Amino acid sequence: MSSPFSIPKSEVSYTEVLENLQPDLEAVEEALTTHLNSDVPLIPSIGHYLARGGGKRIRPSLVLLSSKLCGYDGERSITHSCLVEFIHTATLLHDDVVDASEMRRGSPSANAKWGNEASVLVGDYLFAKSLWLMATDNDPSIIRVVSDATVHLSEGEVLQLLNEYNLASTEESYLEVIYRKTAALIATCCRIGAILGNMPQDVEERLGEFGTNLGYAFQLVDDALDYMARADHIGKPIGQDLSDGNVTLPLIHLYRSAEEEERQLIRQVFFESNGTPDGKLDDILALMKKHGAIEYTIARAREYVERAQATLQDLPETLDPFYQNALHAFANYIVERDQ
Ligand code: IPE
Ligand code: IPE
Ligand code: MG
Ligand code: MG
Repeated sequence: MSSPFSIPKSEVSYTEVLENLQPDLEAVEEALTTHLNSDVPLIPSIGHYLARGGGKRIRPSLVLLSSKLCGYDGERSITHSCLVEFIHTATLLHDDVVDASEMRRGSPSANAKWGNEASVLVGDYLFAKSLWLMATDNDPSIIRVVSDATVHLSEGEVLQLLNEYNLASTEESYLEVIYRKTAALIATCCRIGAILGNMPQDVEERLGEFGTNLGYAFQLVDDALDYMARADHIGKPIGQDLSDGNVTLPLIHLYRSAEEEERQLIRQVFFESNGTPDGKLDDILALMKKHGAIEYTIARAREYVERAQATLQDLPETLDPFYQNALHAFANYIVERDQ
């Protein structure tokens, strides 16, 4: 991918980024485990089940990379990595209840294993724990950006619910949903690094812009993978968005490009299959192929990645170039990943 915006191909590979972060990511794992040790039995059971189930730790990685970029390498970036991962995991617990998803991170989802009630309540616990971590750290700038993100996140999930089964959804309204439900938290992860490094406001804004664009790209890729990935790669079922009535960009693009006869078929699959279009997914996938719906979605994701990478060029030259390159490489991983 070449672009007039992108900074020269990074000297740093994604593998080197992970190697560099490994000791900190291990410390984050330890912190996640420690903070899940409630004496109410169900909480550690579900919490540790989720933590051990993996997850890509994208948000902690961004807190760590942006902190290191801004010259901060202390304990607080571990606490804040833990905090954002708890918020993220809480939303996954709730999201899987709302979507009735039975698989997450390659294993039965918490709702499939313990039921909806337990999932919702332990999700609340994780939100509460992140509040507690934030209050204990007590930095007003971080409290501001984290609470902004959680408000946006909840609004995004509600907006998505309101758009369910709406084939007239536009690309614009879809982008609004994904900004709130995904990009806002990813932007906050990057801002936290700037705040921990005592950077001036404009650097925080720049990193926030990096994270926002990366967040759009991340959700666009997630929505493309929902129609294309192998379940054993992403650890969650394929075609889930279609069966949930969640109208994402691949479907929006398909519907607006389709001929009337094809639209009829899409409506039939979408509305008449009682939410389980088993066997019908292939028909939709064939139409998506014909109209280039996945390619279109990935192309949009690439644009956002390029925008994210362009914002890195405007950062002060005094910031560590290794971490600038690392963020550049991380952004490429977002569109190249298959899980
Ligand atoms: C899944 O997030 C939810 C989205 C915002 C698409 P991740 O893909 O980061 O989930 P894990 O933590 O790696 O499982
Ligand atoms: C992500 O959306 C959920 C939140 C950001 C709260 P998705 O519904 O796309 O996530 P997956 O695909 O279930 O992981
Ligand atoms: Mg979901
Ligand atoms: Mg998804």
